[in-house]
Amino acid sequence: MIICKTTQEIRDLEANLTFGKKLIGFVPTMGALHKGHISLLKESKKSCDITICSVFVNPNQFNDKGDLARYPRTPEADIKMLEEAGCDIVFMPSIEEIYPKTDTRVFDFGAIDKVLDGAYRPGHFNGVAQVVSRLFDIIKPHKAFFGLKDYQQVLIIKKMVEQLQLKVEIVACPILREADGLAMSSRNTLLDAEERKAASLIPKLMQEAKTLSTTMSLPDVKNKLLAEISANPLLKADYIEFCNADTLQPITEIKPGKKVICLAAIYSGKIRLIDNLFIN
Ligand code: PAF
Repeated sequence: MIICKTTQEIRDLEANLTFGKKLIGFVPTMGALHKGHISLLKESKKSCDITICSVFVNPNQFNDKGDLARYPRTPEADIKMLEEAGCDIVFMPSIEEIYPKTDTRVFDFGAIDKVLDGAYRPGHFNGVAQVVSRLFDIIKPHKAFFGLKDYQQVLIIKKMVEQLQLKVEIVACPILREADGLAMSSRNTLLDAEERKAASLIPKLMQEAKTLSTTMSLPDVKNKLLAEISANPLLKADYIEFCNADTLQPITEIKPGKKVICLAAIYSGKIRLIDNLFIN
């Protein structure tokens, strides 16, 4: 596996490996890798000739500086995991390499950026779009792989690709879960034992949302779930919402032919976790 730290190193490889003739798969990450990331890498390896993974904690997508400072960083373990999983190239740039000057671009993603994490983490998706477009520009992948745990992020990135008319296919991959159902996330490593136990309620709430939505109104289901969250002293909900899966606009009833997804952002202690589940 080749480790690159600069854009120039990627450019040199491009020339040497005659990237032009090969199908490039790209897995962008913020490191602290887990099996969920590796499943994206495996997906890329299935259909691409060369798989490149980036490890870069992007300051521009953190609206909360404490969250940025706390974000787990495990570069040595990441390199080992990527090597074992058969990654061809890992790109581990510095902040200066990605942002040689301040990125002042402001994207307009319309309504899908105004709800859920877009509302609770102002500027987050703009920062994601800045870094992902910058990484696409450096790597020039044919396909890029993203996990569906970040469902809103996947929709935003698809929209960004459309708006910037980029020639990259966005491949959305299923959520990987721990044995107790908790969606895999780098943030899970920050949970202490009590918080981890409380967090395991999140996937259960998602399942409950799906089951109850067949017999109860969506607002009633939402209130019931919010009450269950409030009853646990370690949990605090930013939101739990039923949305149209294409537009992400909140809905109060399931209409025939419309895909509905339940999305949640819930703190366990200080750690903010997200999850989602299609309910029809
Ligand atoms: O999903 C993530 O880990 C990040 O948002 C991404 C896509 C790597 C951009 O920093």
